[in-house]
Amino acid sequence: MRIQDSIALVTGGASGLGEATVRNIVKNGGKAAILDLSEEKGTLLAEELGENAVFFKTNVTSEEDVQHAIDSAIAQFGSINTVVNCAGIAVAEKTVGRNQAHCFDNFKKVIEINLIGTFNVIRLAAAHMVKNQPNQEGERGVIINTASVAAFDGQIGQAAYSASKGGVVGMTLPIARDLAKSGIRVMTIAPGLIETPLFASLSEEAKAALETQVPFPSRLGRPSEYAQLTQSIIENVMLNGETIRLDGAIRMAPR
Ligand SMILES: NC(=O)c1ccc[n+]([C@@H]2O[C@H](COP(=O)([O-])OP(=O)(O)OC[C@H]3O[C@@H](n4cnc5c(N)ncnc54)[C@H](O)[C@@H]3O)[C@@H](O)[C@H]2O)c1
Repeated sequence: MRIQDSIALVTGGASGLGEATVRNIVKNGGKAAILDLSEEKGTLLAEELGENAVFFKTNVTSEEDVQHAIDSAIAQFGSINTVVNCAGIAVAEKTVGRNQAHCFDNFKKVIEINLIGTFNVIRLAAAHMVKNQPNQEGERGVIINTASVAAFDGQIGQAAYSASKGGVVGMTLPIARDLAKSGIRVMTIAPGLIETPLFASLSEEAKAALETQVPFPSRLGRPSEYAQLTQSIIENVMLNGETIRLDGAIRMAPR
């Protein structure tokens, strides 16, 4: 699919990787609906980008919210053919910490947002995309999810986060197979360390220590590099059913 033909739902689109993706799609002539909990940031971004961007306050775990955002995006842009799932949260908690079991609700919350929320958006968006007119390649849509290198090398304290991201990796191929007949591709990006507001609270020393762990290039990734990969996935019709690490060859140590 050409990037200028992309009409995208971007969850978590008000910040970090999602924001960079929204900016890149609109800069290249596509359209983007920003689905995020953060009303202030989402509204500001949509206003800045003009008529090819729109914000809908959405909790990805809510069927009602997501359905409303999809219906409104279609009313505004005519259709949707791209989903980029970036909404997500991270928690750090050990299975047993200070003689207490991992908080059960914290575990469930991370799975609910990162895994179930991602699937909620995929299923509801795909139900519309199957009705699109196919392009010359027979393509009706593309779905891009965001996992993490923690899906493969989760660190101490990442049981919940790694489980949620491992779930996203695990469902990539079966959903690609489910939707193949409709010409809808499904890909997942597993980022390493990318400099987003998630890292804002880190000291310069802590940041430098992280950077030395990245073999090459030895620095944090840029959100624009994530957005660039989403563009490659949108444009390359052979990419389907796979997870791509975007990580400068980092393999996370236990801590
Ligand atoms: N930054 C990194 O190094 C990194 C590495 C690996 C994976 N990731 C993943 O990339 C994704 C984006 O991370 P980021 O660094 O841009 O973080 P971020 O905090 O800058 O952005 C996440 C956005 O998701 C939104 N959000 C959270 N819960 C939501 C919900 N229930 N419904 C709708 N929106 C919700 C937040 O409001 C926020 O705007 C996350 O899934 C994260 O786990 C990030």
